[in-house]
Amino acid sequence: MFRYACVTLLLLLAAGVRQSSGTEVKVEEDKKLCLYANLMLNFSVTYEVAGKKNATVTFTLPETGTTNGSRCGNDSSLLKIDFGKGHSWALNFTRDNQTYKVDYIWFTYDLKDDTIFKNSSSNDTKTVTVGGRMRAVDLNNIYTCKSHETLDSGLVQQVFWNVSLQAFISNGTLSKNATICHDDQPTPTPPSTTTITPKPTTTPKPTPLPQPTTGTYKLKPNDTSNSTACLLVTVGLQLHYTDGKEFVSENIDPNITTSGGNCGINGSDAVLVLKCDHVTISFTFVENKQKFFLHAVNVSVVNGNHTFHSGNANMSLWEAAVGSSYMCNKQQTVNVSDSLAFVTYDLRAQPFEVKNNSFATADDCAADKDDNLIVPIAVGVSLAVLVLIVLAAYFIGRRRNQARGYESF
Ligand SMILES: *[C@@H]1O[C@H](CO)[C@@H](O)[C@H](O)[C@H]1NC(C)=O
Ligand SMILES: *[C@@H]1O[C@H](CO)[C@@H](O)[C@H](O)[C@H]1NC(C)=O
Ligand SMILES: *[C@@H]1O[C@H](CO)[C@@H](O)[C@H](O)[C@H]1NC(C)=O
Ligand SMILES: *[C@@H]1O[C@H](CO)[C@@H](O)[C@H](O)[C@H]1NC(C)=O
Ligand SMILES: *[C@@H]1O[C@H](CO)[C@@H](O)[C@H](O)[C@H]1NC(C)=O
Ligand SMILES: *[C@@H]1O[C@H](CO)[C@@H](O)[C@H](O)[C@H]1NC(C)=O
Ligand SMILES: *[C@@H]1O[C@H](CO)[C@@H](O)[C@H](O)[C@H]1NC(C)=O
Ligand SMILES: *[C@@H]1O[C@H](CO)[C@@H](O)[C@H](O)[C@H]1NC(C)=O
Repeated sequence: MFRYACVTLLLLLAAGVRQSSGTEVKVEEDKKLCLYANLMLNFSVTYEVAGKKNATVTFTLPETGTTNGSRCGNDSSLLKIDFGKGHSWALNFTRDNQTYKVDYIWFTYDLKDDTIFKNSSSNDTKTVTVGGRMRAVDLNNIYTCKSHETLDSGLVQQVFWNVSLQAFISNGTLSKNATICHDDQPTPTPPSTTTITPKPTTTPKPTPLPQPTTGTYKLKPNDTSNSTACLLVTVGLQLHYTDGKEFVSENIDPNITTSGGNCGINGSDAVLVLKCDHVTISFTFVENKQKFFLHAVNVSVVNGNHTFHSGNANMSLWEAAVGSSYMCNKQQTVNVSDSLAFVTYDLRAQPFEVKNNSFATADDCAADKDDNLIVPIAVGVSLAVLVLIVLAAYFIGRRRNQARGYESF
């Protein structure tokens, strides 16, 4: 089902745009409008003040700012607003043949600005990156959303409302066709003629996923078939995410997974992108002071015309010395965001300085080291935990199903 109604809003839309007193941004190319945004946006930022205390400040994206650095491209476009004393906010749009969407949102704020960040104990400039949650919008449609939407990335919350956006504008004018966000649409009343058949109360037992198959993924610095690998990762991967009200768990099958990305050469990040059917996962590794670590994870899952997207660009996991590899044979769960976690098995990763197509010595994770001492206990405990998790999942699933059952009448 389409979650969006595509409505031709003639005068209504024009009126809507004029009404809103938000931040309006127009990007032009060759004197033609190619990117448009009008929105209200509040930031809530938590920062440290003297005495290791936290303060939270809320401020609104000002109506005026500069858009230097904004650009319209064929496949991706950038809307960048610089405002205040050294802050900026940017949206990256991408498109395919039929649709476009907000791919990423960046927010950079300078804690030096004491008109906003009073008594900040740091003078740093910080950047948060959030995967856009906007679902794909048909090209030549303007996206509108009056409802409030919150993007939470830990220390920063972004609250949007009265949003109108259009990217990849083709003929220099805003479209009159609007794609309205789900929350703005009237809740559909169930047709009154439906015969009410009570839902059977049998709850499908959750079938626990088998352990994922371990795959080996390589990157080469270029396409020549005999060049040696620059990045090596061996892992069995299982994803768990919450898409709306659905809990989804799936294994990444190495047989149908392709790897891409780029090597970390001359100080650039190393990025491994795994594509498995409808799932795309990217791992960004950073090198710093002779150590590497996993810094960002980015997952998108395409289900029909709807894409689940989540990520975190502020992680520091899997740390090991550059020139060695990171290893964790034990099952390891990584919480990426409120809606996404993944589990690794038989993990070994070397994102930098791979020699001779093989892993260098490994820095073993703590869980593996403890293994030798407390195997029997660990097995017992993890079995107990597993049983609890399965039971909990079963009851949650059951309650949800019941709740849903009642909801629909
Ligand atoms: C946005 O922030 C302003 C303060 O800057 C506050 O007065 C207003 O209530 C906030 N609105 C929302 C929807 O968070
Ligand atoms: C931040 O910068 C201001 C002015 O440059 C300086 O007075 C202050 O000491 C700095 N604070 C910190 C924590 O570095
Ligand atoms: C609006 O959408 C309808 C149906 O999708 C399409 O037939 C029409 O050409 C669109 N109009 C514009 C101006 O894009
Ligand atoms: C790649 O193969 C070509 C021809 O087979 C050979 O001349 C070249 O030395 C090889 N390069 C490397 C890095 O092994
Ligand atoms: C993957 O391929 C191998 C060999 O082609 C096969 O033995 C194995 O069963 C496949 N695994 C899955 C999960 O399909
Ligand atoms: C990396 O740095 C070396 C020397 O510092 C240089 O020769 C090489 O071209 C650089 N490679 C890239 C991809 O920038
Ligand atoms: C996140 O994923 C999107 C597409 O799925 C990609 O364009 C973007 O570059 C990724 N970002 C990072 C930090 O990996
Ligand atoms: C990133 O993570 C570090 C360590 O967990 C934390 O101190 C920092 O505040 C985080 N930054 C943001 C912008 O979330």
